[in-house]
Amino acid sequence: MKQLLKLLRSQEPVTVDQVVAALSKVLEPEVNRDLISLNMVHNLTARQGVVSFTVRLREAGTPLQVPIERRARKAVLAIPGVKDVKVSFETTPRSQLRETSRLQLDAKYIVAVASGKGGVGKTTVAVNLAVAIGQLGHRVGLLDGDIHGPNVPLMTGISGEEPFAFGDQIFPPQAHGITVMSMGLLVPAESPVIWRGPMMHQAIRQLLRDVMWGELDYLIVDLPPGTGDVQLTLTQTLPLAGAIMVGTPQNLAFGDVLKGGEMFRQLGVPLLGVVENMSFYVCPHCGQAESIFGEGAGEQLSRRLKTPLLARVPLDPAVRAGGDSGLPTVIAAPQSPAGQAFVEAAERLITALDASRRQSARGSILLNPDLPIVR
Ligand SMILES: Nc1ncnc2c1ncn2[C@@H]1O[C@H](COP(=O)(O)OP(=O)(O)OP(=O)(O)O)[C@@H](O)[C@H]1O
Ligand SMILES: [Mg+2]
Repeated sequence: MKQLLKLLRSQEPVTVDQVVAALSKVLEPEVNRDLISLNMVHNLTARQGVVSFTVRLREAGTPLQVPIERRARKAVLAIPGVKDVKVSFETTPRSQLRETSRLQLDAKYIVAVASGKGGVGKTTVAVNLAVAIGQLGHRVGLLDGDIHGPNVPLMTGISGEEPFAFGDQIFPPQAHGITVMSMGLLVPAESPVIWRGPMMHQAIRQLLRDVMWGELDYLIVDLPPGTGDVQLTLTQTLPLAGAIMVGTPQNLAFGDVLKGGEMFRQLGVPLLGVVENMSFYVCPHCGQAESIFGEGAGEQLSRRLKTPLLARVPLDPAVRAGGDSGLPTVIAAPQSPAGQAFVEAAERLITALDASRRQSARGSILLNPDLPIVR
């Protein structure tokens, strides 16, 4: 019986998908990532049990060729029905390396999180939204667009982690189920960089072009405060599906958020909603909600900007503590009023995006290296 089963299985046609699945478990020995996600396998065919493919190496004559071939051959021969494996090697031409390094970002929806004013909780909202969307089963990336004061590594608990570099390509780390990239991971915190105009644009392009984001459903971009240079560059470089405005109820912050919202309008980026942060304080003793900074700002903003109010997030010391310790509220206390507000905002954002049908990029985005520099 066993013999018969083996014979029957060996008759089944071997598919390319099976080979891809097998090779996606084969690790490149130096970088410890699989051959498929490193985009090293090309010209793959599977005909009558004979599998053939080319492994593209970055360097000719590398000693890695031997273990790669051994591992790949073993994995493919383990597929029932495979009779023979033909592996050949080639080296990526230098010109193509540059070409492929421009094609890393493939996101269905790219959403900017912005505000007019600093310190209102943009990064907190961006991190919690991104993690909440990830928990709802989507593939999410979080890009820290704040190159002057990158806080995303701290708030996601990955500061000090070094992204893994493979040639020109940068592989971003994962945190709480999402992919995270920040200038703060490339430049040590103790050596602050004074960004001059062209350098800053270069840095932003590097974050977008050389980082291997992989295929994403959502890329959330945490913008720096205000309506300056970085915001403009990011907004004009990225095909944004839309933007979210974060504001606090204080009167002072209100005008700035309107101004920020107006900038997106002028640039033709739809507003997807407003998040009112630090809206009220729930007394831990009696449970009563106290509106410390006044009421109704979120509703007013949403009316003035003609965009929905996605959530009102309470002022909660646990939110700050979660930010400082790298454990976002949606993970540390998902049932708390703040945790629920973030999840609600995530669900409403997904609905708003699906309704808008304005997708960011169906295929990969080809970033033009000669994009005009906005000053
Ligand atoms: N709902 C909240 N309750 C309590 N603390 C909060 C809340 N939201 C944000 N914070 C805290 O307020 C501070 C500022 O938040 P955050 O860094 O997210 O703001 P930001 O708008 O990104 O600031 P910046 O303009 O500097 O980038 C942080 O210490 C954060 O933990
Ligand atoms: Mg911030």
